[in-house]
Amino acid sequence: MLTIGSTDAMQRLGQRLADAARPGDTIALSGDLGAGKSTLARMILNALGFAGEVPSPTFALILPYDPPEVRIPVIHADFYRLDGAMELEELGLDAGDPALLIAEWPERVGGLAGPDTLELRITGSDASERRIDAQPGHNWQARWQQIAGELS
Ligand SMILES: Nc1ncnc2c1ncn2[C@@H]1O[C@H](COP(=O)(O)OP(=O)(O)O)[C@@H](O)[C@H]1O
Ligand SMILES: [Mg+2]
Repeated sequence: MLTIGSTDAMQRLGQRLADAARPGDTIALSGDLGAGKSTLARMILNALGFAGEVPSPTFALILPYDPPEVRIPVIHADFYRLDGAMELEELGLDAGDPALLIAEWPERVGGLAGPDTLELRITGSDASERRIDAQPGHNWQARWQQIAGELS
């Protein structure tokens, strides 16, 4: 469990995640509406070099970002409007995609757990304090331990 005391602290988390992320990874962001999933996704994209506006993909479902605007290819997804019936492949997402997938509402597609997935649950929507509960997949364990250690 990691306590995030402010949007600045969330930004530091976004920076560390951007530094650690590799193509083929998934960062799955859970939490209620307003928890800060899109905010953290935006911070990661900005830390990867994207200078433009990062819209919420609630209606587009998936928004791709490609070099040179970002250091590595990123797909930002929001599965809120899916009911689980739609397959990821139908959205043009396929396991082994050489991009970083940042996915909001992973539970809507049955979860995205796997060795390359970092699952983060954000809770608390009063003021700016947030709590992050992480479930790092095998290939994220050492990286998450380092990030959480540096930020706590
Ligand atoms: N520490 C924080 N981390 C992230 N967002 C925060 C934080 N403190 C306040 N906020 C605010 O909470 C809101 C989160 O909205 P958003 O990121 O769209 O949520 P979600 O995508 O989870 O529905 C934003 O208005 C953001 O400015
Ligand atoms: Mg959102």
